[in-house]
Amino acid sequence: MEHGGDVYTEGILKGKEILDFSSNINPLGVPVSFRDHINEALEAVKKYPDVEYRSLKKYIREYLEFSRNYFKDEPCKTNKFSICESDIVLGNGAAEIIDLSISCFKKVCIVVPSFIEYEKNALKWGCNVIYSTMKKDMTYDYEDILFKIQKSDLLIIGNPNNPNGGIINKDEFKTILDFCEENNKTIIIDEAFIEFTGKNNFSFLEEIESYKCIFIIRALTKFFAMPGIRIGYGISKNEKLISEIKSKQNPWNINCFAETAAKYVLKDKDYIENSLIWIDEERKYMISNLKKIGFIEEVYSTYSNFVLCRLKNLDCQKLYKTCLEKGIAIRKCDNFRTLNEKYIRLAIKSREDNNRVIKLLNSLV
Ligand SMILES: Cc1ncc(COP(=O)(O)O)c(C=O)c1O
Repeated sequence: MEHGGDVYTEGILKGKEILDFSSNINPLGVPVSFRDHINEALEAVKKYPDVEYRSLKKYIREYLEFSRNYFKDEPCKTNKFSICESDIVLGNGAAEIIDLSISCFKKVCIVVPSFIEYEKNALKWGCNVIYSTMKKDMTYDYEDILFKIQKSDLLIIGNPNNPNGGIINKDEFKTILDFCEENNKTIIIDEAFIEFTGKNNFSFLEEIESYKCIFIIRALTKFFAMPGIRIGYGISKNEKLISEIKSKQNPWNINCFAETAAKYVLKDKDYIENSLIWIDEERKYMISNLKKIGFIEEVYSTYSNFVLCRLKNLDCQKLYKTCLEKGIAIRKCDNFRTLNEKYIRLAIKSREDNNRVIKLLNSLV
């Protein structure tokens, strides 16, 4: 399987239970605030959703505004909030937005290794694709990006990036932003995992007003633990791009369960606060424990809810098979461009589950 999260092939379809460390979903689970209102969604099933999704866009806009202050000790620089409903385009998961936004361009530069759908979508749409490879320590090569963007119309970059969890250094990225703004280039910044960083300043939301070249992609999938609901969105001040994406969409692409979920979970402060406390603790715990495992050569620093590791004298296929036999799925990373069989990615989950995977890995030493 190309992606993590395939609990079907070796699990459900074979009647086996698998603990999934291959996909990166908040272990706090589907927010109670949505479960408590599931009947509202059931009631709505009998009518078409608003084809313009006006309320849904309002919930997202309000969330974006309030989420600027996750941490009171790090207030956002400005009180002004400029994002409006018309700057938002909704998708059936971030995947739909990634696909349709890429379809609007011909020459694409993808920062790699990264979510493999960027490349698959670009090739599907017949784009001319070039790559900017991250440095050995998995930080972005800003000089190379600046050089490559000169030959492209579009740059695609993850923030935090999947599979390593690194984030963009805004000071270093400024030259790239300025160049793109002045030269009519677009930058897709995939922020599907941004909430896990726990810091507002890592997002490019505040830069959107000054830089029309930015197109941010987000979703409720990872942080709000709802991959089955399929709701994602793009945000940009580039009206032309927003309307081109919309023109390629089918009407009613978001169902009423997703609308109801967004209405409640996006203002669920308890869920958000508890999630931020959990990730802060468990990220440190996982990293420190993985660093003690003998056959792991490198544990890359991460701001997200997953950890990339490079193996010493061990092949990810072999490790994957061994873990699966013990009921745990890990993400082999040999199908990420520029990575190979020496890399694996592990989700960060609850303390109990993290201990299970750490115990298993330790037993293999
Ligand atoms: C970086 C990144 N962006 C987007 C997606 C797709 O998210 P969604 O399930 O909301 O389509 C994924 C899924 O794994 C991802 O890793």
